[in-house]
Amino acid sequence: MKVSVIGAGNVGASCAEYIALNRIASEVVILDIKENFAEGKALDLMQTATLNGFNTRISGSTNDYAKTANSDVVVVTSGIPRKPGMTREELIGINAGIVKTVTENVLKHSPKAIIIIVSNPMDTMTYLALKESKLDKHRVIGMGGILDSSRFKCYLSQALNVPASDVQGYVIGGHGDTTMIPLTRLATYNGTPVSGYLDGEKLKKVAADTMVGGATLTGMLGTSAWYAPGASVAALVDSIVNDHKKLYTCCVSLDGEYGQKDICLGVPVVIGKNGWEKIVDFNLNDEEKAAFVKSAEAVRSMNKVLSEMKTA
Ligand code: NAI
Ligand code: 2OP
Repeated sequence: MKVSVIGAGNVGASCAEYIALNRIASEVVILDIKENFAEGKALDLMQTATLNGFNTRISGSTNDYAKTANSDVVVVTSGIPRKPGMTREELIGINAGIVKTVTENVLKHSPKAIIIIVSNPMDTMTYLALKESKLDKHRVIGMGGILDSSRFKCYLSQALNVPASDVQGYVIGGHGDTTMIPLTRLATYNGTPVSGYLDGEKLKKVAADTMVGGATLTGMLGTSAWYAPGASVAALVDSIVNDHKKLYTCCVSLDGEYGQKDICLGVPVVIGKNGWEKIVDFNLNDEEKAAFVKSAEAVRSMNKVLSEMKTA
């Protein structure tokens, strides 16, 4: 299986590293617009192969899309990241141009690839990639909910003082500080509701910390995070290339599911060799449904910014 990662920055390189470390694919091509940058990252990573015992071939390319030819999966991380005080939404103008061009170039060489969008604002970039590429909707997946859910489970495990692997939880909705919805009602500790162990105040704090999880790290690091984002993309790639059919929250095109149409938004989906294969209905309660409507409205207004930019 061949995976190409566009953008050899923090998230792209970290994703390539996790793919190799976890032996997810046999070949990874990293591509960047910056001269020799992807080649350098690839060479550095390959020099860890004997230390880490992986056989994945990692190579780099400066903007030569021919090297990405016949990829099974292409991950788009190219774009500018968030800086302290910046919202994901502020990245829209710059990243829209990059995502559009990159998607066109990728598909010329890998017409059958499944495309994963990471660049922010991710929900709008996923919508843009889907509309511009006119691909089958199952082949365009935005990654955000896996990361947000992983942060949610981390904060929950800290509040519960238990291993994170014993905690289950999902974050749906948009990948934004005010648009994501941590589903505390459905979160469990080994199959039992977390509300049995944490009071309402503690659960509210976990949800609030999750929602600003990315901003907190951006404030600490001076740029957005990369380990958890890279690992989240690698997990998504794993379920595609190995057809695991894992249930993850991903940003996908909705056609009436969860009461929404003509929008890409985070919902629970089964991920396999065909991309996102099925949307799972979590039977939201009224409060969660209302939050989902609000999230969709916010993402829709961002998508509108995009269409206004196109017509201006
Ligand atoms: P970075 O700045 O470290 O890397 C971005 C790379 O993209 C740079 O190396 C740059 O040269 C390259 N690039 C720019 N234009 C390009 C083009 N036209 N073709 C090829 N390469 C190009 O940024 P980082 O931290 O890796 O973040 C990447 C993107 O992912 C940002 O938009 C960030 O906001 C987003 N992000 C999304 C997450 C999510 O959960 N969806 C999580 C973390 C970051
Ligand atoms: C994150 O959540 C900023 O989307 C980026 O870390």
